[in-house]
Amino acid sequence: MSDPSDPYGEISYGSSAYLQSHPDNLAVIAMLFGLQPQTLEAARVLEIGCAGGGNLLPLAAAWPGSQFVGIDLSPRQIAEAQAGVAALQLTNITFQAMSLEEVGSAFGTFDYIIAHGVYSWVAVPVREQLMALCARLLKPMGVAYLSFNTLPGSAARATLRDMVKFHTRRASGLPERVSQARAFFAFLEAALKDRDDAYARSIREELSQIAGLEDYYIAHEYLEETNDPCYFHEFIHHAQRHGLQFLGEAEIQSMSTAGLSVSVQAGLREMASRVEEAEQYGDFVRGRAFRQTLLCRPEIELKRAISPDLVQRFHFASALQPMHEEGSAGSRFSYRFRDADGRVMEVRDALARAALLELEAVWPVAVAFEELLERASVRAGVPTGPGSAVILGNTLLKCYSVSRGMEFQLSPRGFYPAVSDFPKASPLARWQASCGFRVTNQRHENVLLGFAEKALMERLDGSQSRRDLEAHFQEARLILEHFARVALLVS
Ligand SMILES: C[S@@+](CC[C@H](N)C(=O)[O-])C[C@H]1O[C@@H](n2cnc3c(N)ncnc32)[C@H](O)[C@@H]1O
Repeated sequence: MSDPSDPYGEISYGSSAYLQSHPDNLAVIAMLFGLQPQTLEAARVLEIGCAGGGNLLPLAAAWPGSQFVGIDLSPRQIAEAQAGVAALQLTNITFQAMSLEEVGSAFGTFDYIIAHGVYSWVAVPVREQLMALCARLLKPMGVAYLSFNTLPGSAARATLRDMVKFHTRRASGLPERVSQARAFFAFLEAALKDRDDAYARSIREELSQIAGLEDYYIAHEYLEETNDPCYFHEFIHHAQRHGLQFLGEAEIQSMSTAGLSVSVQAGLREMASRVEEAEQYGDFVRGRAFRQTLLCRPEIELKRAISPDLVQRFHFASALQPMHEEGSAGSRFSYRFRDADGRVMEVRDALARAALLELEAVWPVAVAFEELLERASVRAGVPTGPGSAVILGNTLLKCYSVSRGMEFQLSPRGFYPAVSDFPKASPLARWQASCGFRVTNQRHENVLLGFAEKALMERLDGSQSRRDLEAHFQEARLILEHFARVALLVS
């Protein structure tokens, strides 16, 4: 029997991993802005509204020295998460079905608090408790991650939500409402298709993003009782009232104005004297709809001008692709690199360029700074000099601050980047494959499997030789190579 007071019991959220909420990502940003964060070798992590554990289980499996606690109001989703703990025999994670309002001091304090997709989705008094909880449970160098829907970008979605809530008001049960909602979206799309006014364009744009969405997303994004976007300045004011301050965005590249024109950048500088104001005006300009904001304790003096020396502490993984250009001497490597979002970065220094080529060649492996410098020197045939580390550090930082294609890691992820004689996947990925088609790789990304991939994945416990697997599974060689490339194999 479904429980109408638990909409997530009626239709579970498609619980999955969120790379941007990875505590190591939060640690990197914290360190760049002047904190001394706890590394994942021994951290305490709390996830509020953890649903079925899709984000927290892979972290617990990958970092046995850390402790993880997940809470969620929905007993059905917590039961799913607990099934994962039992199947994987994890001893460093607990899940509890409870409201965030009931969390007491016995929980202790945390280095990282994650609340993905909760703030906008709960009523105002619960939001109040959520912020109070973060303030109460965050360690002195802790980081809280809260994602939420923002205005002005969410305005069209909020309008669509109002309409579809009205349309489905008489339906009984969430599954029926989802089916009525889909019919209404189709009706609206047809009704607006020949119009070119601002209203029709904005609703059509929103409708175009709905096509292909799964039922759980329609249910909890459009049909939930509460899903209220707010302006960034309102969120930050709320955080400050609870004794928290703005640290940064989990996708730090979104804090850069590099993609905006020179005159817009100048205008933003003139209007905004503080980083929070710059962020708010940036949202106005971009029409931002969603944020993944990081908060920390107010007494920490943040360093907004990042010291390039800090960069030397990290490992680096880069998916930036060198651009090939036709010149008078034919095709040649250019000074420019491009990321998957189409952003182009120019790197003129030979050593720094060699470093990016080196990283691209070994992607997704992360390389430590000293080693990267060494390898770049060999590749470029250029000896390292006194200024080399500074130039490389500045280049890496420049790329990282504008592009998601450059990753900094404090605790590098553990995976095996090739196919060994006895290929092995993590117990987590094998268990996920036994339950469905979505698995989490060692980089904390979601990977969708096809039928043959799923069948093969379930066998990868390291006991069967590559030769046997290739003899018994069609396309095993190609699939195993694919698994190695997407960080699904372990040593
Ligand atoms: C939109 S879903 C997001 C789930 C998950 N964090 C994700 O992004 O995949 C919101 C989650 O918050 C949970 N939730 C709502 N109110 C809560 C409360 N008062 N205490 C704890 N969890 C709550 C819901 O049960 C649901 O799982």
